[in-house]
This record gives sequence, C-alpha cells and structure tokens, in this order.
Amino acid sequence: MATMLPQVAVAAHETAPREAKGLSDPFGRTLTDLRVSVTDRCNYRCVYCRTGEGTAPPSELPLEDYGRMIRAFVSLGIEKIRLTGGEPLLRRGLVELIRELSKLRTVQGHRLDLALTTNGHLLGPLARSLRDAGLSRVTVSMDAVEPELFARITRVPGSFEHVLRGVRGARDCGLGPVKINCVLMRGWNETQIVPFAEFSRRENVVVRFIEFMPLEEDRIWAPDTVLPLEEVLGALRSFRAITPLPQNSLSETALRYTFDDGIGEVGVIAPVSQAFCGACSRVRLTSDGKIRTCLFSHFDHDLHAILRRGGTEADLRQFIEATVQKKEARHHIGETGFLQPGRTMVHIGG
Ligand code: GTP
Ligand code: 5AD
Ligand code: SF4
Repeated sequence: MATMLPQVAVAAHETAPREAKGLSDPFGRTLTDLRVSVTDRCNYRCVYCRTGEGTAPPSELPLEDYGRMIRAFVSLGIEKIRLTGGEPLLRRGLVELIRELSKLRTVQGHRLDLALTTNGHLLGPLARSLRDAGLSRVTVSMDAVEPELFARITRVPGSFEHVLRGVRGARDCGLGPVKINCVLMRGWNETQIVPFAEFSRRENVVVRFIEFMPLEEDRIWAPDTVLPLEEVLGALRSFRAITPLPQNSLSETALRYTFDDGIGEVGVIAPVSQAFCGACSRVRLTSDGKIRTCLFSHFDHDLHAILRRGGTEADLRQFIEATVQKKEARHHIGETGFLQPGRTMVHIGG
C-alpha cells in the first residue's frame, strides 16, 4: 500500500541541528521525553479515565502536522517519544507515522526510543507491522487478570481476551520488553496484585502498579482510593520475597523489583505517595496540538496555532523553548485547594 503520509516533513536519517543545547526548564530539569496523543477517541471506557458520555467531537490533527511538531521537539533534544491517546491504534495511518518518526535521529545522532501506550484491544493483528515500521516497544494498560473484573473496569464485555492476544503478539514479535500498566483503585482491583505478579512471571512481561491519580471524568478519586507504594510492596512480599532492581534512568517513574528467584519484574509508580516531579523529564502534546507542561497543568499552549499561521520550524522551536519555561515545579494532589485539571487523561495522553 502506498504511504498515506507522503508529505510528513521528515527526511531519511535526518539528524537534528548540532548546535541545539537541549530543552531545560527553570528548575534545572532537562526535558528529553515527549508524549504525543494522536487521538482522543477510545474504544474503552476505563473507570479511572473516561465516561464516554461526552458529545464533544473528537479532536485530531493530520498526522503530517504531528510529524512536523515532533520534528521540532526532536531538534531541541527530545530522545524518547511515546505515542498515546485516547487509543492510538484507532488512528488510521499510525503505522506510517511511526515509519517516518523512526527515521529521525536525536541531537546526538542516535535512534529515538519510540514507544506506544495502548489498551491492547487492536494490538494482536497490528503488532508485527508496528515493529516493522520501527516501533521500539509497547506498554499495554491492563487493570485485572480476571476477565470479568477486566470487563467491569474497561466497561467493554469480552475485552480481556483481545488484550491478552495483543500482549502476547507484541511480546512474540520482539516489541519487548512489554510493559503492563495497572492502575490500582481500592474497592476495584487490589485483589489483582498477586495474580499480576504471577502473570509477570508466567508471561515474561513487566507489570507496573500505578497509584490512582485524580484525572478521571467519573470523579471517583478520593485519597483512600489510592493504594500507596508500601501497601503494594506488602502484598507482593506476602506472595514472595522481592529484590529491588537498579534504576534505568534518573527520571524513571517506576521503582522496580524482581523476586528471590529472579523470575518476573514488577514495578510501582507512586506519583501520589512518592511524587517524582523533581526529576521530571516529560512534556506532552495533546491530540489537538497543545503543549502540556505537566499532567496537572491548568493551561495549554497552542503549538499547532503556529503551524496554522504558516510558521516555520524555527518558529515552532522558539515557541517550545518559551513554553517549557512555564513548566510547573510539581503537582499538588492531596493538598488543600488542589484543583483537578479540566482535561482528563484521555485528552492529555498517559
Ligand atoms: P518507560 O518506563 O520508559 O516505558 O515509560 P514511563 O515510565 O514513563 O511509563 P509510562 O509512559 O507507561 O507511564 C506510566 C504511568 O506513569 C502513566 O500512565 C502515568 O500514570 C504515570 N506517569 C507518567 N508520567 C507521569 C508524570 O509526568 N507525572 C505523573 N504524575 N505521572 C506520570
Ligand atoms: N491515574 C493513574 N494512571 C492513569 N492512567 C490513566 N488514567 C489514570 C489515572 N487516573 C494511565 C493508564 C494508562 C495510561 C494511558 O495512563 O495506566 O496506561
Ligand atoms: Fe481508553 Fe486508556 Fe482512558 Fe482506558 S485509560 S479509557 S484505554 S484512554
């Protein structure tokens, strides 16, 4: 099939300008990690994310425009790109976008770390073409290993079997290490911690338990719905002795562990009880082309407006550099006066 993105402005093995010094914010953090939401549509309605009841039309841009904005970011020092949604596999032409992005090189001339976060429903049949297009690895959201509970959380009957096929398909075609993101919510899925530990060992995937954050449309978050790090570690220890694994990078979100026999890997992402904002290396682009300097920002910065006005790559760069100067120091979850952001995870991208 002919490429659907002939005009994505990315030349083969293009290297970003060598004079670029990298993107840093006023708190001395270097931003090397870009998350791009390529659609805010989703085929699931996970209880910690979206109700699916809104009537707002989906907001998406031509893939060519994401390509141009991403290229400007990469020329400023971004090394890792995570494509997200909504559900990114719903986006037609995604494989072609990945093929184009895989040709980009970092400022240092290296390949990008090109990852995808998906709910996994459509992953099975697509895994091989994603890998062939140049995707490095995938993260799959999975919040239960019991099929009935899984369907209650995603609010889609029969979803578990699809996702399991997706996880195995990705793992078997070399899109690994496959990571599983499990958002823990008290009263919903705390029973799944040990079954997920077994799943990691059996299926050879990395499972990360995530503390629930107030980013959902259903407004069910309360402090006691969060399962904090220590409680998760306690449940894991009740199953088997755990051993910490070294950090892969300073800005890594997950604390990683294996078991006493070295089989399986589990992690805990604890943005609520042990915030990691001090080492944040992340910046986000929403599906409608706005920069979010924090998951909990109350403002968007309209990068796509520069493109709409006919701006050049230099204009995009200038806007990005100015915007990251406004990056928030940290989130304020749980503090008096905390205000949930107006846009939920389905718009921002995980
Ligand atoms: P890799 O480990 O490189 O695969 O990426 P990652 O650790 O960033 O993982 P991923 O993108 O899958 O993010 C995992 C989860 O961590 C997200 O779904 C969020 O719940 C949480 N998270 C990621 N980035 C942030 C952040 O900047 N702030 C907060 N508060 N939470 C985040
Ligand atoms: N709290 C924590 N993580 C969340 N995610 C979505 N909503 C929330 C939330 N309220 C994570 C999911 C998914 C990714 C897109 O974002 O784990 O993998
Ligand atoms: Fe869809 Fe992901 Fe939100 Fe679940 S978390 S509803 S899979 S966007």
